[in-house]
Amino acid sequence: MKNITLMLNGKKETIYFEEGDTLLYVLRDRMGLTGTKFGCGYGVCGACTVVVSGEAVRSCKVLFKTLEGANILTIEGLANGKKLHPIQQAFVDANAVQCGFCTPGIVMELYALFSKEPDVSNDRLKEVLSKHLCRCTGYESIFNAAKLVQKNESYAKQDKKDFERAAKLAREYMKE
Ligand code: FES
Ligand code: FES
Repeated sequence: MKNITLMLNGKKETIYFEEGDTLLYVLRDRMGLTGTKFGCGYGVCGACTVVVSGEAVRSCKVLFKTLEGANILTIEGLANGKKLHPIQQAFVDANAVQCGFCTPGIVMELYALFSKEPDVSNDRLKEVLSKHLCRCTGYESIFNAAKLVQKNESYAKQDKKDFERAAKLAREYMKE
């Protein structure tokens, strides 16, 4: 077994892994972070999406061994105690959570998107969301939730601030 050190949900962690382990496997099976879902397992459905150093990535396609020093955020790292993150709250407010299986991946996708492009156009938003498959098919309510986030400027700005703060902390921790 090998190990690497990285930031996971704001904490510095040294994590053991086997050569071919994916990020999704390590998150769910080694770290117990089961909010990230195993859907297709080959990069198509989006259920396994997490944020790695600011980018939304499909964790089933990422080899864990490539992540030394990365800053990883999963759905478990979003809420502030019992207070939902504004994106999570928008999904509740827009009735966009059905069975909820695809929801964590979409929320993380939007987190990465809005932290970089708070003023994203509807077409671009649809394009990004279309890469996520929802078997409950509530696409309209998912789009409405994303618009709710965007309409409430403080949601999108908070994301940008959260991301910048997390990136700064990660750089400082990794230097220690
Ligand atoms: S489980 Fe990774 S994209 Fe479907
Ligand atoms: S909410 Fe059920 S799969 Fe998307």
